[in-house]
Amino acid sequence: MDVEALEREALAAIAEARSADELEEVRVRTLGRKSPLKLALREVRDRKSGMALNAIRERVEQGLAARQAELAQPTEDPTFDPTLPGDEIPRGSYHLITRQRRRIEDVFVGMGYEIFDGREVDTVENNFDALNTAEEHPSRDPRDTFYLDDNTVLRTHTSPSQIRAMRAMEPPVYVASLGRVYRRDTLDATHTPIFHQVEALAVDRHVTLADLRGTMRAFAEAIFGGTREIRMRTSFFPFTEPSVEFDMTCFLCDGAGCAVCKHSGWIEMGGAGEVDPNVLAGVGYDPDEWQGFAWGLGIDRIAFARHGLPDLRLFWENDIRFLSQF
Ligand code: PHE
Repeated sequence: MDVEALEREALAAIAEARSADELEEVRVRTLGRKSPLKLALREVRDRKSGMALNAIRERVEQGLAARQAELAQPTEDPTFDPTLPGDEIPRGSYHLITRQRRRIEDVFVGMGYEIFDGREVDTVENNFDALNTAEEHPSRDPRDTFYLDDNTVLRTHTSPSQIRAMRAMEPPVYVASLGRVYRRDTLDATHTPIFHQVEALAVDRHVTLADLRGTMRAFAEAIFGGTREIRMRTSFFPFTEPSVEFDMTCFLCDGAGCAVCKHSGWIEMGGAGEVDPNVLAGVGYDPDEWQGFAWGLGIDRIAFARHGLPDLRLFWENDIRFLSQF
């Protein structure tokens, strides 16, 4: 018998085995009870050929063990093609209100204003008294305002930031203050008890309503684009005199009338006015030397209008289908 051929064939079959089952077949064929090797071992009579056959058996057994270990290794996934673009890792984005806030801050910084942080929990003094608000003014009613105790409220507007800024700085003052405000409103499509405002305050010598108008216009054009006209309507706020509400021409139809502006051509922006001399005097500024203007407007409403949203509650529901659009 050609024992060397036997070994060569056995090792070749082992190398070709593609699975554990195939390998087992090779084992039975080459080392099983009826295999030529086992039969030859049984026939062997002299020590020399016995040792030669045993050496072959050992090498075949080693070959089987080595191949078995190889087959147990996880193989490359044939469905994995590294040349294809990978799955994109989903990335978060800023909330629409945050994005709007940051745009507004950029516009004010660009006009030379300082961003000033007020407090969401503030004193009745800052929220009402120092803003010249009469004792019997309806906005003080606990049915409209969240009181934490007799002297502390969740601020109902960002205007107390005017007081904090003027008490902290010497005039001239140019600040914008943005953040959350709180009112006891019932939640519906157009009211949320928490919303966001931006307050602008400029105090300098010889500040007039014309400066206010020009600043509003620059602001409206920076946020909404195009050429915007500003319209002022007389109004009342305790802390401004005169007081106005201001509108801008619709950013969609430029004043022609469309669904966004409810066919009026105008979009309401917010309240404004010349800072009341009582307020200036209250923070220790001489009203004969310093004048100022202030305005406040709702950030949520700007985002609402710009994106044609149907319901303010979308800002609070954290629905990923909504949030991921921005
Ligand atoms: N604080 C007022 C409001 O919330 C808006 C306002 C701000 C009006 C500054 C005048 C000046 O309605």
